[in-house]
Amino acid sequence: MRISEPRIVAALAEMHVDLQHGAALADLTSLGIGGTTDLLRIKKHENLPDLLNLLDANHVPHKFLGGGSNLLVGDGELPWVVLQLVRPEPDVVLDGNFAHVDAAADLGRMITFCAKNDLGGMEGLIGVPGTVGGALRMNAGAYGMQIGSYVREVKLYRAASRQIEILRGEQISFEYRHTSFAPDDMMLAVILELPSKPFKEILQGIRICNEKRRSSQPLGQKSAGCIFKNPPGASAGRMIDELGLKGLSVGDARVSDRHANFFVNAGHASANDMLNLIADVRERVQKTYGVSLENEVVVWNA
Ligand code: EPU
Repeated sequence: MRISEPRIVAALAEMHVDLQHGAALADLTSLGIGGTTDLLRIKKHENLPDLLNLLDANHVPHKFLGGGSNLLVGDGELPWVVLQLVRPEPDVVLDGNFAHVDAAADLGRMITFCAKNDLGGMEGLIGVPGTVGGALRMNAGAYGMQIGSYVREVKLYRAASRQIEILRGEQISFEYRHTSFAPDDMMLAVILELPSKPFKEILQGIRICNEKRRSSQPLGQKSAGCIFKNPPGASAGRMIDELGLKGLSVGDARVSDRHANFFVNAGHASANDMLNLIADVRERVQKTYGVSLENEVVVWNA
């Protein structure tokens, strides 16, 4: 979708929004898949309500993009524009055990920065790609920990009130890869309370998790992490592996040889290739195990 009306273009500039015409979502997602649309990069959080009012008044549908690391975007010209926050400098400010973090901050860099200041707890998340905002929305987790456990306060744009609001940690429910945020709420900033730990000790934890991840996940390849959520008490990766589906392909979309719940783009996979592969694997798991796997990856299909 293209924004060309001069009146809207001028209003965007006034709101400190950078308009990039025809951005390729394939370049903005870790899967390297996705068509084109206009990208609106937001420099000032406080202008979001006005921006969304402007888009709605002009019937311009939109979606919020974080780090693009858990996302499968459709092919071709996309029927909505994409909004993304510009990362401010600095993006993390520490105050005792509290880390004030912008939603656009890189998750791994934030964890490392806190570690260097003797604040730990999130070692398990070190290899998870993406932004802090994305991790928050999905309640990213790994190796027995999840980001939600450390959240004390979230600043967000709430679609329901059309305003920027602040929620306390206990007002938000964080479950396995799920939160109580509405799909069109936009994370803006978070305050995390992290336990004090010596840097050396945190580093040791980080090294162990990195090693585990390197040995079991296809880190060098284009993927969106795990495609399916684990069903209660079971592992989607193990089930897909047991069915002998590693290496199964549709075009260049392929079930990883290393971890069967990672589907990789081995070349120039289209969204349709990936969606067909997902549907095929889901059907085979359903047939054998009687379990309907739920997507973990977020799909933006037209
Ligand atoms: N397994 C296989 N074959 C495979 C993959 C896994 O037999 O191809 C077996 C493993 O040997 C192990 C069990 O399945 O016994 C579980 O595997 P793993 O430890 O890799 O954990 P997982 O349940 O597959 C979850 C998260 C990952 C997270 C890891 C580590 C989900 C859907 N996945 O994977 O998160 O990194 O634990 O904590 O919850 C993600 O969210 O995108 C993601 C990759």
